[in-house]
Amino acid sequence: MEMLAIAEKEHDESRQGEAFSPFTNDPNQYQRKFYIESYGCAMNFADSEVVASILNSEGFGATRNVEEADLVLLNTCSIREKAEQTVRKRLTEFKTLKRSRPGMLIGMLGCMAERLKSKLLEEEKLVDMVVGPDAYRSLPSLISQADTGQKAVNVLLSREETYADISPVRMDDNGVCAFVSIMRGCNNMCSFCVVPFTRGRERSRDAYSVVAEAEALFAQGYREVTLLGQNVDSYYWVDEKQDTIVTFANLLEKVAQISPLLRVRFSTSHPKDITDEVLHTIARYENICNYIHLPVQSGSTRILQLMNRTYTREWYIAKVNRIREILPDCSISTDIIAGFCTETEEDHQDTYTLMEYCKYDLAYMYFYSERPGTLAERRYTDDVPEEVKKRRLQEIIALHRIHSLESMQRDVNKTFKVLIEGNSKKSDQHWYGRTDHNKVVIFPKEQYKVGKGGYVTVYIDSCTAGTLFGTVQSVL
Ligand code: SAH
Ligand code: SF4
Ligand code: F3S
Repeated sequence: MEMLAIAEKEHDESRQGEAFSPFTNDPNQYQRKFYIESYGCAMNFADSEVVASILNSEGFGATRNVEEADLVLLNTCSIREKAEQTVRKRLTEFKTLKRSRPGMLIGMLGCMAERLKSKLLEEEKLVDMVVGPDAYRSLPSLISQADTGQKAVNVLLSREETYADISPVRMDDNGVCAFVSIMRGCNNMCSFCVVPFTRGRERSRDAYSVVAEAEALFAQGYREVTLLGQNVDSYYWVDEKQDTIVTFANLLEKVAQISPLLRVRFSTSHPKDITDEVLHTIARYENICNYIHLPVQSGSTRILQLMNRTYTREWYIAKVNRIREILPDCSISTDIIAGFCTETEEDHQDTYTLMEYCKYDLAYMYFYSERPGTLAERRYTDDVPEEVKKRRLQEIIALHRIHSLESMQRDVNKTFKVLIEGNSKKSDQHWYGRTDHNKVVIFPKEQYKVGKGGYVTVYIDSCTAGTLFGTVQSVL
């Protein structure tokens, strides 16, 4: 379970329950206060920053204290049943709070809002507002409507909305790393996945606005941007000014050219779409991190077919080989689902042996959770018993733990360039940073005059399966 815990800490359900707010402005200057909690993937966290920006211009300031909020928002995730259960539990807590604060509004945003639509208003009366991921511009009018006691819903999905012109209000207090959304929605129809239904059709954001946002972040002192999309490699934007097409490789290059001091990451790559052009672009720019998240989902071709992933085991392996050929020093991470419909022990073994081949540096592993409305729910029976799913998950987690430890051990006695992101959680005498490979490094601050956002080279002395420990060798 520990590896799963590590995986989830950094991935989608990671920051569940953790609330954070945009305090870049003095909340006292606003008439009303909002409180927002975000669940799910990085896209949701990025969206909450768009929502904060819209609310700020409507006279709402952020608060970290739900007790003093006039508006309580939950930006929700539907990817697995567990994610929805957590949100429901939280809503019940807020409902209790509302009894003592009758004017307070509760709003549900994000994927669960899109999936359940007005159900939560009508049947369970848990919320006052339901707002889908493409409807955040209508928040001001929905709030006015809810203020008058009417139930307010907008779950319309759009084919165009990218919020390109809205400058997100950064809600972290880190000031070094930021997410930049480059596209929305997903046109793939992986049979297990709810995202195409909650996020709608795929659309790419204006490349100029992406570059402008990354430039502004760099000017504010940020040193790492992660370009976000469900499937970044299918980014496609027509530049009418130049009469050209901007591909993901082109966009990556434009962002990398902002400054060699700005690290660029991206997520997520669908194995079917990542091109050699992208790999060569990564190779050309030192500041594009050598790290690719390449979710495989299963090692069995038969299961991959049922999942509608559109590649086979062999095709995936060939892609991994290609990455290693063009980028010999690239770390690769993955997502795996254990116990998808009809999965046999043999299919499970295929996942196991694929993992042995790929030796992922990082993996996010889940057991299959049937989602209403998905292709798998309609076509197949969720027939792998829960205890079998969980046992298989434990087996792949145990195997991955060996691989991740080996991957960390390979870095011991080597030197890496590290971007300092802040204090180590355990000690303010230590810095926390990451290598280009996305591995966490903890090292003593000592006498060096370098701070958050600075680059150092760190000699790695020791490691665990999740963390590298070292000492500063030089300040860059
Ligand atoms: N767009 C990304 C995935 C987003 S969802 C991609 O295609 O890679 C993140 C991960 O959640 C998926 O990769 C998958 O491993 C997992 N996931 C999605 N639906 C799931 C389900 N119904 N049950 C269990 N895990 C699921
Ligand atoms: Fe879901 Fe597949 Fe789209 Fe990823 S690519 S969001 S798994 S449908
Ligand atoms: Fe969850 Fe929606 Fe992201 S379902 S994983 S928040 S796109």
